[in-house]
Amino acid sequence: PELRKVIVDGQPLATFDPGFVNTAVCHSSITYIDGEAGVLEYRGYPIADLAEHSTYLEVAYLLLHGELPNAAQLAQWELEVTEHRMLPDKLKTVLAGFPYDAHPMTILMASVAAFFSFYPDAQNFDDPDARYLNITRLIAKMPTLAAFAYRKGKAKPYINPDDSYGYCHNFLQMLFKQNERRYHADPRLIRAMEVLFILHADHEQNCSTNAVRSVASSGNDLFTSCSAGIGALHGPLHGGANEAVLKMLREIGSVDRVPEFIEGVKAGKTRMMGFGHRVYKNYDPRAKIIKKSVEDVFEVTGVNPLLRVALELEKHGLEDDYFVSRRLYPNVDFYSGLIYEALGFPPEMFTVLFAVPRTSGWAAQYQEFITDSEQKIVRPKQIYTGYQTRSYVPMEARD
Ligand code: ACO
Repeated sequence: PELRKVIVDGQPLATFDPGFVNTAVCHSSITYIDGEAGVLEYRGYPIADLAEHSTYLEVAYLLLHGELPNAAQLAQWELEVTEHRMLPDKLKTVLAGFPYDAHPMTILMASVAAFFSFYPDAQNFDDPDARYLNITRLIAKMPTLAAFAYRKGKAKPYINPDDSYGYCHNFLQMLFKQNERRYHADPRLIRAMEVLFILHADHEQNCSTNAVRSVASSGNDLFTSCSAGIGALHGPLHGGANEAVLKMLREIGSVDRVPEFIEGVKAGKTRMMGFGHRVYKNYDPRAKIIKKSVEDVFEVTGVNPLLRVALELEKHGLEDDYFVSRRLYPNVDFYSGLIYEALGFPPEMFTVLFAVPRTSGWAAQYQEFITDSEQKIVRPKQIYTGYQTRSYVPMEARD
């Protein structure tokens, strides 16, 4: 509190910090990152351990409650999520209003905002029961919404959730099941999806989480706040990067064109998408785990030739002084697009596959924000560079 009132030469001290590079806006006990060492932990558990041993819903529980669930707690949580998977029937009218080629992230953003009109009790966020119910609703419905957005774009009939499948398996089922034939995903693909979901579940005060917290700060409900998070995530410098990586790999096309591309990056013509991170100045620990998943998935689906281009780019990136001196390493998005494509997703779904699991992180951060007595409406300062006060010019006197 004292820091907020530091006065220098009679003026309140303000820091000029575009992008909040050096500004902490909250105390948080959810996710820990050491960008220098390449460490990521949820509630104190290293990400590699969670990715190896947990399911996504177990991790979502951990983020929300602060502790890993025991068997009974996990079974209860899975049951609650399963019960809330269906979308409100009238939401299908909202979906029907979008053009067939609408970006699925736009559909997601608008539909999550629309959830508030179906569940107005989300405004009672001070009531822990109402808050928990709406968090459960959102986490449960995101895969259904994402699958519906996908199938709408393909002009295919929607497939309702199936209670006999777990969270990720059901998601794949709703996306890809053909007619009434049951879609049996290979367990290795379901596991790859679980791992990707775990890796994407939270990442402390990233751009979209900051958007969620900022929108929540003016007294908004969970759905409105998370729809803002989806909007922030949609940008190519954030969640949209994996889509951009695949586009970049396609444009490069073959290994022999990599040096030319690298020269273009160094000349400032383009960026190497999937490289660099605001916080990680070392190899992103999530990228390491995803790189391993790529191998597992390609065992099932066959190898995508673009993998060779990606590996060659990474090799250059790790050796070339331009990247080394700026401490640019592969981030979570560098390899994830290759997996998504192998699983059968078109590029416009990639960011959706980030938004679905990030929902648990947003919900945990939302909950932390609104129960934090230190917090207030988010309202940064500015340094005004415009005109000093001047006289109004009547229309007839203007040039
Ligand atoms: N390719 C080439 N050069 C880069 C890259 C890149 N991917 N990223 C940063 N640089 C360079 C910048 O040009 C700048 O160089 P300069 O000092 O000579 O001007 C220097 O590295 C620092 O870059 P900033 O943009 O200041 O770093 P910032 O922390 O603001 O940006 C960001 C981080 C946005 C992730 C950036 O690295 C980037 O654009 N990466 C590509 C997009 C991407 O992969 N985004 C996904 C991030 S992970 C996520 O959101 C889940």
